[in-house]
Amino acid sequence: MPDTSASRRDVLKAALATGGAAALSACLEAVGDEPIPKGVDDPKTLPDRQFAWNDSLDRDEAGNVVLPEHHLFLYLTYDGEGGSDGTPTDADRERLTAALRTIERAYERSNRGVVFDLGYSPAYFDRFEASLPASVDLPPPQGLTPVDTPTLDEQDALLQLASDRSDALLAVEEALFADGGDGPETLNGVAVRGRLGDVFRIDDRRTGFIGPGLPAANQGVGGIPEDGPVPEAAPLFMGFKAGFAANQASEASVAVEDGPFAGGTTKHVARIRQQLDKWYTENSHKEMVKKLFSPQLAESGAVEGVGKNLGDDSGITGDIYEATDETADEFGVVGHAEKAARGNRDSEGNVRTLRRHVESTDNDNASLHFPSYQQAISEFEAVQEAMNGTDIVADNPEIDPRVKNGIFRYIFVENRGNFLIPPRSLRAFPTPTGADTA
Ligand code: HEM
Repeated sequence: MPDTSASRRDVLKAALATGGAAALSACLEAVGDEPIPKGVDDPKTLPDRQFAWNDSLDRDEAGNVVLPEHHLFLYLTYDGEGGSDGTPTDADRERLTAALRTIERAYERSNRGVVFDLGYSPAYFDRFEASLPASVDLPPPQGLTPVDTPTLDEQDALLQLASDRSDALLAVEEALFADGGDGPETLNGVAVRGRLGDVFRIDDRRTGFIGPGLPAANQGVGGIPEDGPVPEAAPLFMGFKAGFAANQASEASVAVEDGPFAGGTTKHVARIRQQLDKWYTENSHKEMVKKLFSPQLAESGAVEGVGKNLGDDSGITGDIYEATDETADEFGVVGHAEKAARGNRDSEGNVRTLRRHVESTDNDNASLHFPSYQQAISEFEAVQEAMNGTDIVADNPEIDPRVKNGIFRYIFVENRGNFLIPPRSLRAFPTPTGADTA
């Protein structure tokens, strides 16, 4: 009988973080012979928007999207026939297309199967003579807060895969990055037709997880007090729920609208170290709500426990974020969500970014992988600027860049990368003009 208990989830989490063949065996022992649903016969029937995962993911009772529990971020360097600084060949494109379609045939696109997207960095596009069209806003990554000096992720590509079954993610890695093409011939019983290892080298491997119970079970790492304060019900280390449907952009609205990459999107990914000793020792629940949401929501008692009672909306209304300055003056502290929301609405009041952040214990320290999808990277930068709260710090002697300024006291940005997620039709080694790719 497969083990469906909390310990099985922990094995699946720990195995992904470790990686490799022994980790895959440990997963298989934990899941027994419980099958993973197979994917589609014809991957061309899948949505053109690679990042359009929501329709195939579960929803909670309030209608919020439930992300798969386990995430694998593979930062990749092009290493195919064109040479590491050269341009990819058509044969490389065919190999990559075949490898990606192998994943789609092998696993259902769902929480129980695998969802993924593949993005390309500005450094990847630099190898071509042509430039990206004006319809794509993809600047190189840069530091975006006054208080952090992140390492810039300038690898060529980022493949993010996610599943409730980390054995599927480990099997993808084992089959598609096998050395010299001598890896397994099948993936979940489906023939392997192309290998990622023929065209990419893994530069960095990062892992993540999300979901009630997982942070509590994995809090024995650096950055979290030893007495284990993370609530059992919390999907994230800071003890609250995030990603409410009403505070997320739709997938359609973050898609690039015009030009050859229409239907694609831009993805910013930050890796953020968390230092939560002070978070848990200095703040009551009410003070946490003040700093994470807004002092107004703390006063009204809007957020109970981890915030499940909020349903599908964080409660950060226009009235609240437009009054952020006054609230900061009144309370001497400013909330993370209210501050960020000031930059996170378009001219019609719609949410601009789709956030899909997950926790991590890579390097035995609590951290967060923070992918954000939006039409243009400049939109993310505007949201980050709003979250920085430089204007509020300047106007308010009680608030410092790292103190009482939302959650800045507890989070430290270690990496930043920018990627273009092309539409599926251009996902295999796109050229900047979108031409000449199969
Ligand atoms: C450990 C790190 C973080 C945690 C625990 C966290 C948590 C939260 C929570 C609980 C909310 C309110 C609920 C929601 O709307 O999802 C929120 C909102 C938000 N956060 Fe974060 N966040 C973190 C980092 C960041 C970073 C680095 C950014 C980058 C700019 C960011 C941007 C936002 C935005 C844009 C909103 C939505 C505001 C709105 O438009 O309503 N967050 N976050």
